[in-house]
Amino acid sequence: MSARKKRTVVMISGRGSNMASLLEATREDQYPAEIVGVISNRSGAPGLEVARRAGIDNRVIAQDDFAGGEAHDAAIHDALVDMQAEIVCLAGYMRIFTAGFVALWEGRMINIHPSLLPLFRGLNTHRRALEAGMRVHGCTVHFVTAGMDEGPIITQAAVPVHAEDDEASLTARVLSTEHLLYPYALRLVAEGRARMDGARTVYSGVAPSSGALISPSPSEGVVDIESLARMTP
Ligand code: GRF
Repeated sequence: MSARKKRTVVMISGRGSNMASLLEATREDQYPAEIVGVISNRSGAPGLEVARRAGIDNRVIAQDDFAGGEAHDAAIHDALVDMQAEIVCLAGYMRIFTAGFVALWEGRMINIHPSLLPLFRGLNTHRRALEAGMRVHGCTVHFVTAGMDEGPIITQAAVPVHAEDDEASLTARVLSTEHLLYPYALRLVAEGRARMDGARTVYSGVAPSSGALISPSPSEGVVDIESLARMTP
C-alpha cells in the first residue's frame, strides 16, 4: 500500500463487535486505515479485552471521574490528540458529546446506527421497526454532528424484515450487516472518497448501486424492479 494509513481510534461502551470487525478489516495490507487506539467510557466494557488481546492502546475515560460533560470531553480530546487520531469511529459509544467537542472533530468522526436513518433515531431501533411493521430495516454510518443520530449519511445497508422475526432475530441480521458496512464506510472516509460538506456527504469515485431489495420477496432475495413489474401474481 503506497498511501499512509489513516490513524483511527474506535470509541466503545460495551461489547465491541463493530470495533472487532473494524480491527479485522484494517489488518488487511491494502486497507487505508489502521486502528491505533480504543477508548471506552466504561471500565467493564467487554470490547476492551478484545483491544487488549490485539495489543491496541486502550484507555478508559469514565464520566464519573470528571466534574461534567465538558471536562470529560476535554479528556477524550486530549487522548485522541495523544493517539494522533485522524479519524474517530464511534461503535456503540453510549454518551452524547458536548457541541464544542463535536465541532473539533467534525468531518473526522463517524458513527454506526442500527436503523435506516432518519427513521428510528435513539434506542431500541429493532423493536420500534417491528412495531411499525417495517418490511425493510437496516443500518447507517454517518458523520457525527451535534444533533443525536443526525449527521450527514455516508452509507446505508438495508435488510429484509421477515414476518416471523422477533427482536433477537432482527437484531442479529442487522448486526451482521453492520459488521460489513462499517469497514466499507471507514474505507470511503479514509480514502477521501466520502467527505462531509456542510449538511451533506460528497463522494468521489463511488459507483451508484443498482437493484432493489423487495421484502417480502416475490421470488428470492434481491430482484430488479423491472422484472418485478413484469411478474404475474
Ligand atoms: C450496534 O448495534 C451499533 O449500531 C450501535 O450500538 C451497537 C454496538 O454493538 N450504535 P457492538 O458494541 O459494536 O457489538
